[in-house]
Amino acid sequence: MAAVFRGSQAWITGGGSGLGRAMALELAKRGANVAVSGRREDRLQEVVAEVEELGRTAVAVPCDCTDEAQVAQAVQTVVDRLGGLDVAIANAGFSVSGPVERLTADDWRRQLDVNVVGAAITARHAIPHLRATRGRLALVGSVAALVYMPRMAAYQASKAAVLALGRTLAMELAPDGVSCTVLQPGFVESELAQVDNQGRFDPERPDRRPSALMWRAEPAARKMIDAVARRRVEYSFTGHGRLGAFLGRHVPWLMQLAGNRMARR
Ligand SMILES: NC(=O)c1ccc[n+]([C@@H]2O[C@H](COP(=O)([O-])OP(=O)(O)OC[C@H]3O[C@@H](n4cnc5c(N)ncnc54)[C@H](OP(=O)(O)O)[C@@H]3O)[C@@H](O)[C@H]2O)c1
Repeated sequence: MAAVFRGSQAWITGGGSGLGRAMALELAKRGANVAVSGRREDRLQEVVAEVEELGRTAVAVPCDCTDEAQVAQAVQTVVDRLGGLDVAIANAGFSVSGPVERLTADDWRRQLDVNVVGAAITARHAIPHLRATRGRLALVGSVAALVYMPRMAAYQASKAAVLALGRTLAMELAPDGVSCTVLQPGFVESELAQVDNQGRFDPERPDRRPSALMWRAEPAARKMIDAVARRRVEYSFTGHGRLGAFLGRHVPWLMQLAGNRMARR
């Protein structure tokens, strides 16, 4: 598995921070050249410098994943600069939180636009190039697709949609030798909790996720890239995340009771 990515060309959206940055570095360590996309170019350039220190080629390709023209242009730039595309990871995402009663139509649209439509059009424009290399597509979902908590309906619905999107893509692409892996992390250190419902990063925002259950981004990225290398269709991790996903799928009534208790607090 270690040699799978040697000399390959990879593109990661949301590559300027958190899991995207960690996956970019992990792919570079395994011998891939890497392009990273996101809206904040300064963050992309920092990752480019880190990848270059590892001796690989890196390119910053700024793009908003909700804008299809920008995504199409970004893919073309990646292919032109790197010379092809073997791996595309639709990782860009954020989390809208709050009880359903308080979420507006704009909140819902913003959430689904980035996490679902963004992933779908990233896949759409990467697919022709991945077909040419019999490459690997991955979508970053979440165990939140299967484990439901109060006040997280918009995020959970978006990640359930990512799971449906990825499982369908895996079927559609299989005849051409292209794999699609839905990566479903549990809690991992990143900037996710510091982004507000408008999608704005605020370093002062506290991260209220349970730190005892949280993985660091580097080991998470190793697991994610292993799953992409193996062409897994679906991969859930951390230990707690995997347990939650299992219970959510097979013992949903238990998770419902736990959620009811949380909602009363
Ligand atoms: N960390 C966790 O515990 C966890 C658990 C399950 C799933 N996930 C998923 O993992 C993925 C990565 O998140 P993370 O945890 O690493 O958080 P993060 O550090 O906040 O990274 C999210 C990235 O997405 C990019 N992004 C957001 N909106 C975008 C847009 N409209 N266009 C292009 N890029 C955009 C951001 O860059 P810009 O702001 O510069 O655009 C940022 O680099 C997300 O899909 C998230 O839902 C994370």
